[in-house]
Amino acid sequence: MVKKRDTKKTVRMKIAPATEKDKKEAMAIAKSLKEWFNKEGIKNMAIDFKMNSLLVAKEKEKVLAFLSYTTYSGKMLLLWMGVRKDVQRLGIGKALVDYLVKESKRLKMYAIEVETLPEEEVYEPYERTRKFYYKNGFKRIFYKKARVKCWDDQIVLEKKIN
Ligand SMILES: CC(C)(COP(=O)(O)OP(=O)(O)OC[C@H]1O[C@@H](n2cnc3c(N)ncnc32)[C@H](O)[C@@H]1OP(=O)(O)O)[C@@H](O)C(=O)NCCC(=O)NCCS
Repeated sequence: MVKKRDTKKTVRMKIAPATEKDKKEAMAIAKSLKEWFNKEGIKNMAIDFKMNSLLVAKEKEKVLAFLSYTTYSGKMLLLWMGVRKDVQRLGIGKALVDYLVKESKRLKMYAIEVETLPEEEVYEPYERTRKFYYKNGFKRIFYKKARVKCWDDQIVLEKKIN
């Protein structure tokens, strides 16, 4: 259970691997987060949801948030995450990352890695995203120049698992 301090809004939720129905609801949430995910992102996310692992946070069987991940060579890769707009900033994103940390420990991964837009690219919504990752223990480790014309430069963030 998570509670927002100022509004006392409370969410009772469970985190679990997504069912096929959950995946559809998670996609609908992703599509609603238009400041973060464009058409190309949504197209890629749909493939990643099929090919990789997906966690969802649910309240009364309704999906509130998702986190897509995979592993590669001893590290956990956080591919995508999103929390429904009306329940952001209630600790749901943190609860999903905490779950991934537990899973990473269980699998003896050395770190969780995530890519996001760099500070150098001034765009307010992703400032919030970076604040969230930095608050949750991720550190910027390097800058990745886009190799394809229509891609964005990215930064790679890492959270060590101990
Ligand atoms: C980024 C995101 C996943 C965070 O999830 P959330 O449930 O809203 O975040 P939490 O409530 O768990 O936040 C934990 C802490 O992170 C920081 N944080 C989160 N959102 C923040 C914001 N908008 N501004 C500043 N700090 C923020 C805060 O320190 C917060 O703790 P506090 O509320 O006690 O101060 C969510 O807001 C989201 O879906 N954003 C849009 C999509 C996106 O950015 N996805 C990631 C890229 S794939």
